[in-house]
Amino acid sequence: MSVVPSAGNGKITVPGILDRKSGVSSQNIPPAKITCLTAYDYPTARLLDEAGVDILLVGDSLAMVVLGYESTLPVTVEEMLQCTKAVRRGTRHALLVADMPYGSYHDDPAEAVRNAVRFVKEGGAEAVKIEGGERRLDLIARIVDAEIPVMGHVGLTPQSVNAFGGFRVQGKTEEAGEQLLRDARAVEAAGAFAIVLESIPRELAAKITSELRIPTIGIGAGPDCDGQILVIHDLVGLSFGHKPKFARRYADVGEVISRAAAEYCRDVQQGSFPSDEESYHARTEHAGTLLAQRK
Ligand code: KIV
Repeated sequence: MSVVPSAGNGKITVPGILDRKSGVSSQNIPPAKITCLTAYDYPTARLLDEAGVDILLVGDSLAMVVLGYESTLPVTVEEMLQCTKAVRRGTRHALLVADMPYGSYHDDPAEAVRNAVRFVKEGGAEAVKIEGGERRLDLIARIVDAEIPVMGHVGLTPQSVNAFGGFRVQGKTEEAGEQLLRDARAVEAAGAFAIVLESIPRELAAKITSELRIPTIGIGAGPDCDGQILVIHDLVGLSFGHKPKFARRYADVGEVISRAAAEYCRDVQQGSFPSDEESYHARTEHAGTLLAQRK
């Protein structure tokens, strides 16, 4: 079972994230924006944690970027738990949030709470994320009541891909924008400590951010949110297919891996890998006998 590092020594906590809401600084300076990235495995978690990222999200996007599915819908609680445990082992300072996958909170509320508890108890998560607005009000309140902090998520909620008819920007009309504002208010009223705003107009995200007391974390929602999140595979150039315009690429790790693999194949085929220095050796007296016996 995983153990969450205790607060202090720069450990990011849920109350600490709430304090970072824009405009709530004691010294009259705006608090630093909240940085958030996805992570799905131990080495990535270690690197992102050591780089100082505030929140690591084990996103159900892993269904697409790690497991190769076309949407986030197929990933299971067990698969998400495996990754959450790995990320827990690599995370010391960041707040660890686990996504509740599709189907794990859509039917029986008691089962939803049990699943949320598993992410904390078995996975070592410090909070869970749930997609949806007004219709999740009661459920978010129940999970918060079970002492589990909840991050909300509205806008382009990928688990609604079939209902939306594709991955489309949400909240573009006045009516849709009003609904999203109601959704965000409901998530806050239910007791969530932060909310992800995904793929909505910048102006709407700014309005929601100015209305809510909890921090907004944007992805494709413009620069006025209290924080930003990106999928790590998009950030480092490890994703394939359509690249959304907000997914700024900071490195091309895909190119580095392809080049390394091609060079390895060349070296093996040319016989230059492994070298003698990269080989183990028998004791001197025995090595001579072995060489002499070689056919
Ligand atoms: O699953 C995920 O990666 C997410 C973020 C992009 C917000 O939900």
